[in-house]
Amino acid sequence: METIALEIDGKRVTVASGSTILAAAEKAGTDIPVLCYFEHTSSKGLCRLCVVEVEGATTMQPACVALAQNDSIIQTRSENIDRIRRTILEMLASTVDLSESPDLLEMLLDYDAVPERFQGGKQLLPDLIDDNPVFIRDYAKCVMCWRCVQVCAEDAQYAFAINFGGRGFETSIATFFGKAMPETTCVFCGQCVGVCPSGALKAKTEHLLELGALPEEIFSETRMRRKSKRRRT
Ligand code: SF4
Ligand code: FES
Repeated sequence: METIALEIDGKRVTVASGSTILAAAEKAGTDIPVLCYFEHTSSKGLCRLCVVEVEGATTMQPACVALAQNDSIIQTRSENIDRIRRTILEMLASTVDLSESPDLLEMLLDYDAVPERFQGGKQLLPDLIDDNPVFIRDYAKCVMCWRCVQVCAEDAQYAFAINFGGRGFETSIATFFGKAMPETTCVFCGQCVGVCPSGALKAKTEHLLELGALPEEIFSETRMRRKSKRRRT
């Protein structure tokens, strides 16, 4: 196996050629914050929380997609990096409900983020979508990490039921033509719920339990799923 050696925060590390900076940092014992990156989906470098400084590079590099180079010298924390991460976190917290995003709440503290800096800005407040017996979609909590779209597509299920919809600030995860989930190619595998880091996608049972629903009501509301499970076995 071909290897390369580089320096991360002053620590020399040797990794396989073709490794990302994130993987190299992990090997060096350095923690780089991530949001859109997930080990079981392909990285797209969307959120930019993982940016690092590579000596000689003119721009910050997203560690989850940028490849480590031989003899690179990399800093994962600096005043500039912290300011970028803090601003991303503040903008997220000022537009999206992060109450069920524990990792992001922790990062807000780590980076001394002050979301109130953007007070008065527009918030994303779409209605909760409850259109099927398996899961609910609460896009007021969506951090646009794209993971759900990827597992629904080439990363796992090949169902292609969801994608980006809208433009600019109004961009959101959506079904084609805004159709209700049962009218799409969704096979209700639940993988999108499993990878969602923010509570935007949630099992219907969990949602109903949180609302204090009684067992009979939960059974009735999720009955289609139970029936279809029985049919498959
Ligand atoms: S619904 Fe969840 S998994 Fe999908 S983009 Fe939003 S936060 Fe990410
Ligand atoms: S974690 Fe690297 S760009 Fe989102």
